[in-house]
Amino acid sequence: TSPPVVAPSILAANFLHLENDIRQAVDGGAPWIHCDIMDGHFVPNISFGPDVVETVRSATDVFLDVHLMIEDPDRYIADFARAGADLITVHVETCPHLHRTLQSIHELGCHAGVAINPGTALGTLRAALEDADLVLLMTVNPGFGGQKFIRFSYDRLRALRLMRQELNKSFLIEVDGGVSRSNASDITSAGADVLVAGSSVFKSSDIASEVDAIRNAAGA
Ligand code: DX5
Ligand code: ZN
Repeated sequence: TSPPVVAPSILAANFLHLENDIRQAVDGGAPWIHCDIMDGHFVPNISFGPDVVETVRSATDVFLDVHLMIEDPDRYIADFARAGADLITVHVETCPHLHRTLQSIHELGCHAGVAINPGTALGTLRAALEDADLVLLMTVNPGFGGQKFIRFSYDRLRALRLMRQELNKSFLIEVDGGVSRSNASDITSAGADVLVAGSSVFKSSDIASEVDAIRNAAGA
């Protein structure tokens, strides 16, 4: 299997020197950048929109992983595709026509991900697993960086890996929330392919070495 990917979340970056923070994270070995889009409705916080994603796109060639924590994402997927997203992830909790939404993301030329909150049953993902390129398992309640990893997430992670095996699918499993060098190894061995890390990376004194430390801990 390929080495785990560390995807730093720029929600925790210093927006006064965002380009520099991104460059340091990429220099540390991050092949992805995770963009957390929040609308103040689906989650109790507002972050940034397509224009910022477009600016990030102009600053780096790495894989842009856009996580839509917004109501009615169908209205915005084209804007994020146009802004340069490589992967667009929507929440199962916000998509009444999830199969159609994933199809639309693919029609826009992007990879399609589906995200699930800690309190949502994994069974609701079942139909989406036919088309999803990635499943994002929230390991904190969405809306903010800097929260503690929810421990029962390990059981969900192993269950998701089992589902993938039984369905003979090859979607990536991404873990998002409370990831650091101290739990990266447990998270990887429980089945994660992609580790999103926000505050552990961007609040550290050396961004590049923190990414490197998480990659090493994860077995990259
Ligand atoms: C939370 C976001 C996460 C968060 C990760 O709603 O989806 O990506 O920014 O930040 P940390 O790593 O600080 O938990
Ligand atoms: Zn996220």
